[in-house]
Parts: sequence; structure tokens; C-alpha cells
Amino acid sequence: MTKSFPASDPTPQDIVTVAAPAKINPILRILDRRPDGYHNLWSVMQTVGLEDEVQMRLLPGRHDIRLHCDTEQLASDHTNLVYRAASAAIGRSRRSTGLEIKLSKRIPMGAGLGGGSSDAAATLIGLNRLLNMHWSREEMAAMGEPLGSDVPFFLFGPSAVVSGRGEKVRPVNIEGPRWVVLVNPGFGIETRWAYAQLAASRSSVNPASWHPPRPYDAEHVTWDQLAQDSENDFEGPVYAKHGILKELTQALRDQGAEMALLSGSGATVFGIFRHEVAAKLARKHFDGLKKIQTFVVQTCSGPRIVP
Ligand code: C5P
Repeated sequence: MTKSFPASDPTPQDIVTVAAPAKINPILRILDRRPDGYHNLWSVMQTVGLEDEVQMRLLPGRHDIRLHCDTEQLASDHTNLVYRAASAAIGRSRRSTGLEIKLSKRIPMGAGLGGGSSDAAATLIGLNRLLNMHWSREEMAAMGEPLGSDVPFFLFGPSAVVSGRGEKVRPVNIEGPRWVVLVNPGFGIETRWAYAQLAASRSSVNPASWHPPRPYDAEHVTWDQLAQDSENDFEGPVYAKHGILKELTQALRDQGAEMALLSGSGATVFGIFRHEVAAKLARKHFDGLKKIQTFVVQTCSGPRIVP
């Protein structure tokens, strides 16, 4: 984690820290390609308690955004989604202020866990508070959508049916918390590459619509139902190129996961467990495997302001 701002410097209301969770996709269907080049999709998404942290403070009298990341794997310039979200929020607020941001990364990158989008959503939530803007979640989703397809989800999580390009988000109630074992292979997958592999693997055009096997507009969805319906269209083409991911998914199943699947376009795979002990035992199976990183976390709420 990056060092916090010195406590003696600005007053607490000038600083806000937002925890930005990762997500998994218990269901991910990729549909037709849209005129804007993106694909329509249909997904059930759930936040999990592997969190980045975005800490922001206003710099009155300045006009620049200074972003510090605690990893060199990520640029701290205008290409960073946090920087872009901050720039959009300050522009929209019409406030003349500088901003300092510290981004502490824990969510692996190129991992299919939505880390960049979650960081952007957390930045909007934090600046809504700092700038005293009273933006609605819908307004922030509209601001965040151009930055990344998963940003709107993080503003409406923890659990939602997501469709369109990712901008149509309908919260659902998934019954009961679960333990989640995330297994990251130590390499990333570019989303754009995964879409190209998927297109190349499909003999006919992508389906224009999809009807889930049960109505997901029900008040409650259970993990049992999700386990029956779990499916990720990226698995076939991504596993064809990265056989290790198929093996890791199978290993999670062998360890007793209720559901095991690729998350997003990868490269992380996840397993769902009812009990903490079982999740922690399953994780042990991956101990000592070269480059593999594992996390045992719980399903959680959306981005939250850290008190
Ligand atoms: O929006 P995001 O930056 O996550 O998208 C990364 C890439 O994934 C896009 O450039 C596009 O190629 C592909 N994508 C897509 N349809 C979506 C989401 C992403 O084709 N709904």
C-alpha cells in the first residue's frame, strides 16, 4: 500500500479514501457486435473483497492532477483510468482545483477482475463526496461508462445483471455470502485479444440475444441456481490458447468448488465455496505453484468510502 497523506496536513474532510473491490462473472455471454465496435453482453456480476484503495485530496489553488501508484506496472499519467475519471469529475463540477491521488493496487491487472473500472468508479464516488456534488449513481455511471465497460456495474453493485455494452445494470439479490478463491496465473490477458479469439472461434455470427435459463429479475437468485447456469463464452477460446487456465479451473472443481469459472476475459479463474475452511483448504492446493497468486476473499458490497 502507498503511504497515506500525513495526518497533520489537510483537514479530514479534504481527504477521502475509497475501497475499490474486484468483480467476478458467474455468467458471461457475449452477443452481437455493435455499430460502435463493442459487443452486447449479458452477465451476472458480483463484487468480491479483494480491494484496491484510492485516496484523494483536493489541492486548492492548483489545477493539476497528481497521481501516485504503488506499482510501476501502471502508468500514473492521463492514460490511467483513475486520472481520467478524476479529470472528468473535476471538469463536470466546474470547480477550479488541483487534486492529489494515491492509488494502492492489490487487484492484479489484465486479470478479468475489473480492477481498472472499479478504481475509476471509486474515484467518481470519492470526488462526489470531496467536491460536494450530490451526483446520483446514474449520473456517475454515465460519466464512467466511456472509461470502461465495467464502470457502471461498480456504481450499482454488489450483484447485478449487466447487459448492453455494460451500461445497463440491474441490481439483483444473490442469496447468502460465499467464499471465493481467486487463482491468478501470473500473466495478464488483454480483453481486446480475448474478443478477437472469441470471434475467430465462432463459426456463425454471434447471437443477437440470449434468454437466461431462468428469469434473473427474481427478487432472489441463489448460488445453487447460478452454479447450474454458470457459463463464460471466453472459456473455450481462452482455454484453447492457455491450457493452464483450464487445468486451474478443474483443480478448483476437484477441490470442491460449487462453481469454478474463468472471470471476465481472464486470466483469473475463481471457485465459489460455501465455507471458509473449504476455501482455505482449496487454496492450499495451489501453494508452491510457480508464479500462481491466490486470494481467499468473500463476496462483498460495492466500492465504499473508508471511514
Ligand atoms: O471497455 P473496456 O475498456 O473494458 O473494453 C476493452 C476492449 O474490450 C474494447 O476495446 C473492446 O475491444 C472489447 N469490448 C467489447 N465489448 C464490450 C466490452 C469490451 O467488444 N462490451
